[in-house]
Amino acid sequence: MPEAISRVAMISGASRGIGAAIAERLGATGWTLSLGMRSPKPVGDALVHAYEAGSRDAEAEWVAATLARFGRIDALVCNAGISVSKSVVDATDEDMAAMFAVNVLAPQRLARAAWPALTACGRGRVVIISSLSGLRVASAASGAYAMTKFAATGLAHGLRHAGWDRGIRATAICPGFVATDMARAVTDTDPGTMTQPEEVARLVELALDLPNNASVAEIGVNWRVEGRL
Ligand SMILES: NC(=O)c1ccc[n+]([C@@H]2O[C@H](COP(=O)([O-])OP(=O)(O)OC[C@H]3O[C@@H](n4cnc5c(N)ncnc54)[C@H](OP(=O)(O)O)[C@@H]3O)[C@@H](O)[C@H]2O)c1
Repeated sequence: MPEAISRVAMISGASRGIGAAIAERLGATGWTLSLGMRSPKPVGDALVHAYEAGSRDAEAEWVAATLARFGRIDALVCNAGISVSKSVVDATDEDMAAMFAVNVLAPQRLARAAWPALTACGRGRVVIISSLSGLRVASAASGAYAMTKFAATGLAHGLRHAGWDRGIRATAICPGFVATDMARAVTDTDPGTMTQPEEVARLVELALDLPNNASVAEIGVNWRVEGRL
């Protein structure tokens, strides 16, 4: 008898930062991994697939490769993202198109492609790594990025509604600064005071593990106090 495959999670942008931490945590807690990376590099027993979020067929190809290898998909973690630090007045059409392509349209296509498999497993999960910038606009310079992250949060809610009767649960995880290259590029805040990628990974694991009748739609994560979020 072939060995049974444990629950399968697809994680985009698993090369570094939050995505790498999620892969490490889920791998250590018994998940089978299918990792999407622009420049694939081996990670344990994981399937590592070339995944460029800007290209149209990439999502369907990665889903097909995952099903060909493992035969099932239980969870999708849409983590790959980019940030252009400009106000909504300064951001160009090109800036906005680039961010929407990676932060919004690619995760939507990924969810569409994985939908039949997520439905088939009876308790499919989608986690969208959005941002506190997907819940509030904290500054002028984060305005353009926030537009795309509000859309990403909206995507999570749309998926939650579309998938509920099929046992699919979707969660938007919305951190403030997390100590990765992305945050280091926009602030000189001490990374040691920020949320750590491993802590976001713990929340992802929780969102994936909660049963169908205890789903959490949004998780805001603060490294400092601010307003009601
Ligand atoms: N860091 C923060 O403060 C923070 C806060 C809230 C939310 N977030 C969100 O968390 C997610 C992960 O960010 P991070 O902090 O880990 O950033 P990061 O260290 O810059 O990593 C970004 C990841 O996304 C991948 N990626 C970027 N563009 C891609 C594309 N076109 N196709 C495929 N993969 C692509 C990168 O791949 P390469 O290695 O190939 O570049 C990398 O794996 C993002 O969605 C981000 O918006 C971050």
